[in-house]
Amino acid sequence: MALVNDHLGSDGFLGVSALKLASSPFPLAEKETQTGVSINDNLRLTDQHIQDGLSCLKQLKQGAHHQHVSSEELERKRISRELHDGLGQLLTSMGLHIQRCLDGCDGQKSATQSQQRESLEAVSSMVKQAMSEVRSICSAIRPAILDDLGVIPAISWQCRQITKVCSDTQVVTDFDVDEESIPEDYKSVIYRIVQESLNNAIKYSKAKTITVSLLQAHDAIHLMVIDNGVGFDPSEIQGNLGMGLVGMRERAESVDGRIRIDTGIDQGVQIRASFPLQ
Ligand SMILES: Nc1ncnc2c1ncn2[C@@H]1O[C@H](COP(=O)(O)OP(=O)(O)OP(=O)(O)O)[C@@H](O)[C@H]1O
Ligand SMILES: [Mg+2]
Repeated sequence: MALVNDHLGSDGFLGVSALKLASSPFPLAEKETQTGVSINDNLRLTDQHIQDGLSCLKQLKQGAHHQHVSSEELERKRISRELHDGLGQLLTSMGLHIQRCLDGCDGQKSATQSQQRESLEAVSSMVKQAMSEVRSICSAIRPAILDDLGVIPAISWQCRQITKVCSDTQVVTDFDVDEESIPEDYKSVIYRIVQESLNNAIKYSKAKTITVSLLQAHDAIHLMVIDNGVGFDPSEIQGNLGMGLVGMRERAESVDGRIRIDTGIDQGVQIRASFPLQ
């Protein structure tokens, strides 16, 4: 916008004053007008205005091009986050369920027949969800589960899935917010942050407990996902960040939310995000 305003004439429109001068009825000669300004001076001024106008138009055109490129870039980022957080998490969970069945088949672990059946049922339901995720992404819509269930039941569902498949990990939930008071655009951001936090926790943390809280306080919605696992040294992954943590930050910032990640070796991981309410 600054670009546009910088190039507006004093009358608020590009080059209008220049065109008024150019249509002066005086002949083209180096003679004084009634106001004491020579015609050539007027023409030079007019020419200057026209040059300014043309250069402004060029910049506006470039600006429009950049805007187009950057909105394409944003859309690409959005889709890659959707793929990563949505399908990535489902595939991780499916992998764990399938492994449980394989272990049972090989007799390596004592997964009973009914547990194996439960795992296969979970995989079958996740395949359906993955198909619906793909449809959502293709039609640029937020996760279908949010419309079907709402964000709180959707998070509860995710947590239950983990408890089923990671028998060593307890997932505790604490919700103290009304579904209706969460703005629609926050819901998908919150859901995706929880999804990636849980995904990371089950992949890396070896936590005994993961706590997911969603609360409303002090004119904001507060989300916390806390695990008591192995944690990590942030300085060690600096140059080696995956898409998960970066994506969480980008998602929170996309709705003016704030996110903070605290961790350390053997200190678990605490993810805290807050989203302002009007
Ligand atoms: N809850 C956690 N417990 C222990 N380590 C974690 C946890 N969350 C993240 N990490 C560490 O931080 C790294 C970066 O996480 P991030 O989610 O950004 O990437 P990733 O999971 O490796 O890859 P991607 O998310 O793209 O599949 C991980 O590789 C892991 O070493
Ligand atoms: Mg990750």
